[in-house]
Amino acid sequence: MLRRLHSIQPEAFVFSNKNKAWAKEQVKKFPKGREASAIIPLLWRAQEQEGWLSRPAIEYVADFLGMNYIRALEVATFYFMYHLKPVGSVAHIQVCGTTSCMICGSENLMDICKESISPEQNTLSEDGKFSWEEVECLGACSNAPMIQIGKDYYEDLNTESFQTIIETFRSGKIPRPGSQTGRYSSEPLKGLTSLKDHESNKNQFNASVQLSESFGDTVKRINPNKIKNTVVDKK
Ligand code: FES
Repeated sequence: MLRRLHSIQPEAFVFSNKNKAWAKEQVKKFPKGREASAIIPLLWRAQEQEGWLSRPAIEYVADFLGMNYIRALEVATFYFMYHLKPVGSVAHIQVCGTTSCMICGSENLMDICKESISPEQNTLSEDGKFSWEEVECLGACSNAPMIQIGKDYYEDLNTESFQTIIETFRSGKIPRPGSQTGRYSSEPLKGLTSLKDHESNKNQFNASVQLSESFGDTVKRINPNKIKNTVVDKK
């Protein structure tokens, strides 16, 4: 799919002070001369700050890392996780439409998106709170059909559970990510048949869902005052 920059762009972009400090720490993770390797997290952080990835933001990150603009543009336009147009202020729903998800009903999920958000993908709903798009395989095929919203996957969906997720967002709450049928992760539908040792002493949710529950920031824009820098252990 051809991914282009939005026709309407803001004048400029700069990292907030907190995000700039965070970005400098990320760059330190890579050897001298390899600073460009930090482009993925820095573009992501720019997107979290603004809600989407504008051309000024992409060029700002390129300057930050001493890269040619074209190289940063190549990265930003290649990955679906970067939103090149403004997205819903509450949730941008990425529906996987690849084989497993399609066989298991992703087209029904997209019909709901068309009815309740916008007939066209990558278009804001009338209230500006939602948007959606079809994306390629997100690697959770055994839990098909699935969607990604923000940092989280919502899996094992059907039309009812998907509508419930949208309504929960609409009511101002954040639904719990992960399997919507109660599966712990991607074990067989009838439960484990082997490798049962880890059944005892496990967390209530799998690691991904547990993190989301702990942080509670699944789609929330980052509050720069709460960002912690990652200190790299160089020993
Ligand atoms: S086919 Fe949908 S996650 Fe892989």
